[in-house]
Amino acid sequence: MKISIASDHAGFKLKSAVKEYLEKASYQVNDFGAYDENSVDYSDTGLAAAEDIAYGNSDFGILICGTGIGMSIIANKVKGIRAGLCHTEEFAKLTRQHNNANILVLAGRYTEVNKALSIVKTFLNEPFSNEERHQKRIDKITQYEKK
Ligand code: RB5
Repeated sequence: MKISIASDHAGFKLKSAVKEYLEKASYQVNDFGAYDENSVDYSDTGLAAAEDIAYGNSDFGILICGTGIGMSIIANKVKGIRAGLCHTEEFAKLTRQHNNANILVLAGRYTEVNKALSIVKTFLNEPFSNEERHQKRIDKITQYEKK
């Protein structure tokens, strides 16, 4: 499975830990930066990763900035992207089950490494529920994107 990842400077450390985990777990990782803790805009790296997923180059994305909010905003501008900011495993489970989220967003300044890795594992292993009521709501988002 291919995973596109990106962060800004505030998410760099956590992204490095997530990347190490993913590679050890044999995921193929496309890393769109940041590549160090020098200031970089989440709106550049996050957009590049989100587009990679929207173009079908990878299966899921993991984006990390300080709060996770900037990454959520930019990722959800891209057609076909459903990005969910998750602080707990429960949120990760629900955003897969209900929203069929294709991007997990993490708050780099507010999430411990072990907690983040547990959230990542939950997100990547939880299937979409396929329930009609959830699909109907997602379809409305897709319809809106086509306008
Ligand atoms: C960077 O200082 C910070 O603004 C950014 O990481 C993020 O939290 C924005 O939403």
